Amino acid sequence: MARVSVTRRVHFSAAHRLFRPDWTDEQNEEVFGDCSNPLWHGHNYELDVTVEGDIDPETGYVMDLKRLKALVHERVVSDLDHRNLNRQVPWMDGLIPTTENLVVAIWQRLAETLPQEVLLRRLVLWETPRNFVEYEGR
Ligand code: NI
Repeated sequence: MARVSVTRRVHFSAAHRLFRPDWTDEQNEEVFGDCSNPLWHGHNYELDVTVEGDIDPETGYVMDLKRLKALVHERVVSDLDHRNLNRQVPWMDGLIPTTENLVVAIWQRLAETLPQEVLLRRLVLWETPRNFVEYEGR
C-alpha cells in the first residue's frame, strides 16, 4: 500500500499585535518591531495543511480534498479570517500571536478533528511571502 501526502492550501487575513503587557511600549517595539504597533496591523496568511495516508483503492484518494478544505475552514479559517488574533480567537487566548504560536494552536485544532485514516503530517504557515514557519507536531 502506497503512503502518500496530500496538501490543501488555504488563505486568511487577520490582525494582531505582538506585545507583552508587562513590558513598556519601547521594550515591545525593540523586540517586536512593526508587529508591536499599538493600533494593530494585518497579515495575509497562507496555510498549507498536509495529511498522509494510504491510497483508498476504491476512490484512489488519500483523502477527498473537498472534505479537508471543509474541515480546515470549519476548525481554523472561520475562526481567524478577518479577526483580531489578540482579542477575538478564544483558542489563542493568553498566547502572543506570533506565527510560531499560531501554527501550534492550528495543529491542535486540526489534529483532533481529522478522520482516523489520515495523519496530520505538516503545517506550513506563511505570514508574508518571505516569512513562514513549519510544524510537524513535535
Ligand atoms: Ni505582524
